[in-house]
Amino acid sequence: MQGKKNIATGFLFLAGFMIYGFVMIYLRDFAPGKEQWIAEYAIGKHFESRLAHVHGNLFAFINIVVGYLLLRLPVGEFSAKAISWLTLLGMLMPIGILTEVAFGVPPVLVLVGGIAIVVAMVWFGLAVLRLELPRQKSDFELTEWSDHNG
Ligand code: HEM
Repeated sequence: MQGKKNIATGFLFLAGFMIYGFVMIYLRDFAPGKEQWIAEYAIGKHFESRLAHVHGNLFAFINIVVGYLLLRLPVGEFSAKAISWLTLLGMLMPIGILTEVAFGVPPVLVLVGGIAIVVAMVWFGLAVLRLELPRQKSDFELTEWSDHNG
């Protein structure tokens, strides 16, 4: 069964990128040289740091949603595993922006993560299209879930 690692990683990364939001408050409101930081809102390191923050939070949230849906929807095991790993790999995108800003690492991770999460989204979409789901919500018995969880 796939999905658990996406939910767990998603929440942990969400917390991490939220804490990073406080770092950006510090840089904007308290750090020495804050005037220059504010002036460069739309360029360079300030812009890229914000890019990492928003994509990190978004991709972490996407992992939580994907993980939950993989636990609930009867997607085949092979597709579920691939979607799960590709969505996780997607976190390399915001991590790549951060490592680029902080250490000048070339944006390879950004590309790998960006491509991985797009492939994951397309794959999940097609996998759900192929599902034969009940016509009414009330028909959608989540027996497996209730079997395991009482
Ligand atoms: C405790 C958690 C958070 C803190 C302290 C925080 C803090 C910040 C700060 C300080 C900025 C401005 C950065 C700058 O100087 O450029 C910012 C921007 C932003 N944050 Fe957060 N953030 C938090 C959580 C989140 C979450 C969970 C999301 C999305 C799900 C999010 C989405 C955004 C977006 C979209 C922007 C860009 C806004 C713009 O440029 O117009 N943040 N955040």
